[in-house]
Amino acid sequence: MPLVSSPNIHGQVTELNKTLRRAGVSFKGQRVLVTGGSGFLGSWICDVLVLQDAEVVCIDNFSSGHPSNIEHLRGKRNFNLIEHDITKPIELDGNFDLVMHLASRASPLEFASFPIQILKANTLGIWVALGIAKRHESRFLFTSTSEVYGNPTEGNVPTAENYNGNINPIGLRGCYDEAKRCGEAFVFAYHRQHGLDTRIARIFNTYGPRLRAGDTYGRVVSRFVSQALRSKSITIFGDGRQTRSFLYVTDQVEGLLRLAAFPNLTGQVINIGSEEEIRIIELAQLIKRLTESNSPITFLPLPVDDPVRRCPDISRAREYLKWSPSTKLDEGLKMTAEWFKGCSLN
Ligand SMILES: NC(=O)c1ccc[n+]([C@@H]2O[C@H](COP(=O)([O-])OP(=O)(O)OC[C@H]3O[C@@H](n4cnc5c(N)ncnc54)[C@H](O)[C@@H]3O)[C@@H](O)[C@H]2O)c1
Repeated sequence: MPLVSSPNIHGQVTELNKTLRRAGVSFKGQRVLVTGGSGFLGSWICDVLVLQDAEVVCIDNFSSGHPSNIEHLRGKRNFNLIEHDITKPIELDGNFDLVMHLASRASPLEFASFPIQILKANTLGIWVALGIAKRHESRFLFTSTSEVYGNPTEGNVPTAENYNGNINPIGLRGCYDEAKRCGEAFVFAYHRQHGLDTRIARIFNTYGPRLRAGDTYGRVVSRFVSQALRSKSITIFGDGRQTRSFLYVTDQVEGLLRLAAFPNLTGQVINIGSEEEIRIIELAQLIKRLTESNSPITFLPLPVDDPVRRCPDISRAREYLKWSPSTKLDEGLKMTAEWFKGCSLN
């Protein structure tokens, strides 16, 4: 039985809710549409919104999100699940105060197998979601990505929001990078042409409980943790000298909900991520140590266009959201490993 809604997660959602309330962030009484709400980030967002007594409508087609992420919410009076592919139009009753568009496969392992679905979710899907927001005059939040910066050139790491990116549109990552860039262009088109209150979060690598592992969905942290716990080889792409920065899920969700809730942020684009840059080889060694694993570390060929460095400049988030990460990497990894130990999903 997967422990996707373990007391561990429940306690963290409760703490996050307290932090948000202290910051004046409350969605009580609001009606919120969350596309991709059964995924890793979407399910944590739904948890907080339901706890805050918002009325939550979650749309998901379960392509990469696991139904058990939201199983504990089904049957609650303020949570409704609609199984639907957001790239196809849908009529919804009632008004929405906020639409959050998260629906998209997001793992690099999925870029090779599902490029068309990824392109559609961030172009046709966002067009459908923006149409709903326009009809209901809702605020709109789009979860974009650090991938819109591609492989930043010298002098552009840490990367600020005014960097326009360095991307190969026809490479393996192009389906995700370019789809998200098109999604951002859609958001600004609705903002400029229809005066919609829009906000874009550029999310940098985020990890924590419910991040899927395995050969189809796995991302680097979930892959390393699950390999370490099973005493399998920890597989690094390339020589491991490439860097990433990793943000714990509750910090990410706090940033996203501040961006969605605060007034006067219409038309804003804000990086949300950790400033703690780490080499992938160091991440593997850290996970191995924290899990007391005897796994060997092995190396696989580096995928084409894999970014060399990735680290956000979060000055804008500090200024506008009064936000910065609070969970140290080793603490977050320990909580993630604890969850993976009790989880049969991966
Ligand atoms: N987690 C990260 O590190 C990260 C980094 C950058 C950006 N993001 C973005 O945040 C969002 C959520 O990411 P996540 O990590 O939770 O991924 P996830 O794969 O766990 O969640 C995505 C959810 O969207 C659903 N979905 C996909 N296509 C759909 C469609 N056409 N119709 C309806 N539902 C659909 C999936 O079933 C899944 O539940 C994505 O837009 C992703 O691009 C995440």
